[in-house]
Amino acid sequence: TYVIAEPCIDVVDRACVEECPVDCIYEGLRSLYIQPDECVDCGACEPVCPVEAIYYEDDLPAQWSIFAADNARFFAEPLPGTDTPIGSPGGASRLGALGRDTALVTGHGQPPP
Ligand code: F3S
Ligand code: F3S
Repeated sequence: TYVIAEPCIDVVDRACVEECPVDCIYEGLRSLYIQPDECVDCGACEPVCPVEAIYYEDDLPAQWSIFAADNARFFAEPLPGTDTPIGSPGGASRLGALGRDTALVTGHGQPPP
């Protein structure tokens, strides 16, 4: 699968969304996330991101390797403040912006508790 890493946070350019043939790039609040079970590895999203936030999972820079699991977590686990996982809805556009992020993205740039 492809993964959206740290550079997307607070940029959310959304150019990637237009390119994805299977509509598997979902919008949170401060970042977007790729649904790993829906991504068909076409790679169309990767070159259009202006801040180079998107990588094939095996090519993630080491400092952002945590984002592979974190993109998956966005769908597999209930987000903070909810009790139901997003799962695999089969299309991002009809959901729109979900208004929530993973704990990793929410905490990005915040002072440690
Ligand atoms: Fe984010 Fe880049 Fe897409 S900034 S929304 S991954 S085009
Ligand atoms: Fe879509 Fe990018 Fe995967 S365009 S299918 S999220 S590689």
